[in-house]
Amino acid sequence: MTAADPRVIVALDFPDMLSAFGLAARLDPALCAVKVGKELFTVAEAGLVRELVRRGFRVFLDLKFHDIPNTVAQACAAATRLGVWMIDVHAAGGSAMLAAARDAVVRTAAEERRPRPLLIAITVLTSLDAADLASIGVGGTAEAQVLRLAQLAKSNGLDGVVCSAQEAAMLRSACGPDFKLVTPGIRPAGTAAHDQARVMTPEAAIAAGADYLVIGRAITAAADPVRALRDINASLGIAA
Ligand code: C5P
Repeated sequence: MTAADPRVIVALDFPDMLSAFGLAARLDPALCAVKVGKELFTVAEAGLVRELVRRGFRVFLDLKFHDIPNTVAQACAAATRLGVWMIDVHAAGGSAMLAAARDAVVRTAAEERRPRPLLIAITVLTSLDAADLASIGVGGTAEAQVLRLAQLAKSNGLDGVVCSAQEAAMLRSACGPDFKLVTPGIRPAGTAAHDQARVMTPEAAIAAGADYLVIGRAITAAADPVRALRDINASLGIAA
C-alpha cells in the first residue's frame, strides 16, 4: 500500500464550513480522502466541494441519492461536474435508477474530460434491524437483503457498496475482487465506540476485504487529528 492510494476517508461531519475547512487545512490530500455528507453539504453548498477538490482532495459526496431515474441521473451528472471522486445512491431505487445513475456519470465524465467518479450503492442502512425491515415489507434477514442489493448494484455496473465491516468478507466473496467495499463503523483499538453498535479496527476491516474506511470521530474528535490519521495509516502500512 502506498500514500498514493489512501484507504481512509475522513468524514467531515461538521455543522459549518469554517470547522470543515479548519480540519481540511491540516490534512494532507495524499494521505486521506474526505467525505461531505448531508449536514455539511446543506449548509455549505457546492462551493465547499469545489474548494476541497481544488485543494487536491478526493471527495466522497455522500448524499445517498434515491429518486426517480431521471432526477437521480441529473443529480449524479451535477456531482460529476463538481469533480468529486465518489458518489452514492440507494440500491433500493431499483435497476432503472441505478443504470440511469451509471450512464449519467459515464456520459458526464466523458463530456467534462475528467475521470469518472466511483458510483457506490447503499444497501441496507445499518440503523435498520430485521423488525424495521419487516415493517417496510422486506422479509428475510438484513444480510440476505444486503447481498441482494449489492448484486443488483453490481449487475447495473456500479462500482461497489457502502457496507459494515462485518459484511465485507461475505460481499468480497460474492461480488469479486474489483467490487469496492466502503466501510464505516471503524475504530482504532482502544478508542471510544460512540453510538456505533458494532465496530472494527482499521486493520481488521482491511483484512476482511474493505477497500476504503470511512472514519469520522476517531480522527475529527481526536486531540490531534493529524496524528490520529497518521497512526491509522501506519497501522495499515501506509507511511506519512
Ligand atoms: O464518527 P464515525 O466514524 O462513527 O462516523 C462514521 C461516518 O460514516 C458518519 O459520517 C456516518 O454518517 C457514516 N455512516 C455510518 N454508518 C453507515 C453509513 C454511513 O456510520 N451505515
